[in-house]
Amino acid sequence: MENIDWKNIGFGYRKTNFNIRCWFKDGQWGPLEVSDSEHINLHMAATCLHYGQEAFEGLKAFMGEDGKVRVFRMEENARRMQSSSEGILMEKVPVDLFCDAVRLAVKENMEFVPPHGSGASLYIRPLLIGTAPEIGVRPSPEYLFIIFVMPVGPYFPEGFKPTELVIYRQFDRAAPLGTGKYKVGGNYAASLVAGKKAKEGHYSAVLYLDAREKKYIDECGPANFFAIKDNTYITPKSESILPSITNMSLMQLAEDLGLKVERRRVPVEELETFEEVGACGTAAVISPVKRIYDEDQDKEYLYGFDPGPWSTKLYHKLQDIQYGDEEDVHGWVTII
Ligand code: PLP
Ligand code: COI
Repeated sequence: MENIDWKNIGFGYRKTNFNIRCWFKDGQWGPLEVSDSEHINLHMAATCLHYGQEAFEGLKAFMGEDGKVRVFRMEENARRMQSSSEGILMEKVPVDLFCDAVRLAVKENMEFVPPHGSGASLYIRPLLIGTAPEIGVRPSPEYLFIIFVMPVGPYFPEGFKPTELVIYRQFDRAAPLGTGKYKVGGNYAASLVAGKKAKEGHYSAVLYLDAREKKYIDECGPANFFAIKDNTYITPKSESILPSITNMSLMQLAEDLGLKVERRRVPVEELETFEEVGACGTAAVISPVKRIYDEDQDKEYLYGFDPGPWSTKLYHKLQDIQYGDEEDVHGWVTII
């Protein structure tokens, strides 16, 4: 294995030793297979290529100071992939099968789990695709479930340093009654143009508004939105955002730290009143936000150049549980 500069690996694809595969054929799931190939042999008329029958997940494994590797809340990812599968009529991967595949993927790539203290972790990417040829718009009778892994650093290059978001009204990521709440590839394709424009403006992500009225905050690119004011953790309730497992965990930790928690519609104007703002997700962890620019209204909202006190506390609390530095009182981690 090449020498990896763990502190500066960034967030990108990297080849590791093995990936795990499992086929659904003839009405049943087959055995887990370990593969050293980075490629799949796919029919050119597979439903994943034409009609978007594709769902993925993202979770992480962390190396503890005690040398134990901990995976964070994998059953939640398994359940969310089942919900995505229901949303686009794919065969559901049983939770136990999903978790066994995660365990095996980590075990087969142990030397790629970044060392404790490096700030990096092992990103685990489950993927489910419809593989049978169909040219009429209908679901595939066959599926391939794959898990591959790679060591990663923070998603937003700033890490825990505050970033900037931008609001555009000319783009939607997902329709209100569409697939926004599922982790399916189409949502990410729909976000590429807006994402490119944001990057060109040196913003780290687009802060999407609800597609129906453009009045309420939805989510920030590949992460959920949260804000703090008056000792309250506030996060949007919306039918078109992905239910983030990180956000779900932060709501619990916020409560543990004595904050009130509100999950409700968040009008854009309320941005003015927040003391702290952040984006949260598996890849992003917590990315504090120092500025939001509303391009159409030429209006900016400022939150200070340093991470706020509650965002800092929540960030450390979450990471300490993930890396095993603090007791896992909620039973969120699985030791591999
Ligand atoms: N929202 C979107 C659109 C995402 O892609 C992600 C990443 O998974 C999240 C939110 C955060 O979800 P989680 O905390 O489960 O990773
Ligand atoms: C994650 O946080 O796991 C994600 O999936 C974000 C991403 C699309 C890179």
